[in-house]
Amino acid sequence: MLTQSVAFGSFHNPVKIFFRPGALSELPGVFQAGEVPLIVTDPGIERAGILDRVCRVLDEAGFRYAVFARVESDPSIETVEAAAAFYREKGCGPVIGLGGGSSMDAAKAVAVVVSTGENIRAFRKGPIASPVVPLVAIPTTAGTGSEVTGVMVVSDLQEKVKMVLRGPSLFPKVGILDATLLEGIPSRVAAATGSDAFVHAIEAYLSRKATAVTDALALEAVRLLASNIRRVVADSRDISSLHAMQMGSCMAGLAFSNAGLGLVHALAHPVGAFYHVPHGICCGMFLQPVLRFNLPVCAEKLSQMAVPLGLEAGRENAFSGAKRVIGNLAEIFDEIGIPGNLREMGIPDFQVNDAMLDDAMGAVPRSLNARESTREDLRALFEAVK
Ligand SMILES: [Fe+2]
Repeated sequence: MLTQSVAFGSFHNPVKIFFRPGALSELPGVFQAGEVPLIVTDPGIERAGILDRVCRVLDEAGFRYAVFARVESDPSIETVEAAAAFYREKGCGPVIGLGGGSSMDAAKAVAVVVSTGENIRAFRKGPIASPVVPLVAIPTTAGTGSEVTGVMVVSDLQEKVKMVLRGPSLFPKVGILDATLLEGIPSRVAAATGSDAFVHAIEAYLSRKATAVTDALALEAVRLLASNIRRVVADSRDISSLHAMQMGSCMAGLAFSNAGLGLVHALAHPVGAFYHVPHGICCGMFLQPVLRFNLPVCAEKLSQMAVPLGLEAGRENAFSGAKRVIGNLAEIFDEIGIPGNLREMGIPDFQVNDAMLDDAMGAVPRSLNARESTREDLRALFEAVK
């Protein structure tokens, strides 16, 4: 409702997106004749035959290209440097990020490093605004939304932190959403990435920076994700559900690239950095404790998620409606197999440390969360996923 969010404001997104099964055929049209793109991807995408499909499209259009297929999950500064060296060696031009969030973010980082000549650490403090080579993002999961955001996450292994870097240079020039690339996605990957997308939509919706525009995108994302996530986790061959998931993830990305995120992300990054838990799983684990924490200040908005979630519009008061929404989200996340805590993930010895608390306290999403939080609040929320 307009009364719930800022009705006046601004909205920015410069990414051209193609979204249809088969949209991969648009790729050659993005480049100028003679340009040599570098494809940045990971071994799983290569093994699944998805890289071959992209290469074939470029081959048929007569483009030369180079492939760096060594991105790991949560890409490190070292991997980015290796890919940048390979880019220079091959004399590449544009950069294609092909894969999930890790590959797309690594591609963003490579574009920054080769365009500025700086190590990615140099950008830790400020927004990245220097011009960079053209970036194309081709997601093979429905999760991160990185194809439409000016955000990337790169791991600093020495410092044990996930650096969340932002700036206008990080928006891809083009995003290609082709649901056929998700066909056969392993159910645990569909669940973890779908969980991330879901949390993006919810956190953007509850953010202090939410506007009428981001609410519209976030609620439609919730509707698409809620009505398709169980189906794709059970059957990853259903193209129309995969397409709906990709659209939900992309709309959530459009929403949070303007509205920002909240405490779930402030808490999930340090746990991911210290315990190497997949990002989407971490987000799913923190969602319930954070929603219960936020409940006193956002019951009205939370209750309005009932209809997009496929629930009947409630006649009860906002607080009861919000609790019904939180309960429904718990059922969905449970049904797709997101563990409730780290013990269930096989991590029985989780300890909150000062570095994790410092990281979460200083995180931008904490400042955008609907409810203000103290260090002790954060400690309690970390303990809630033990
Ligand atoms: Fe996320």
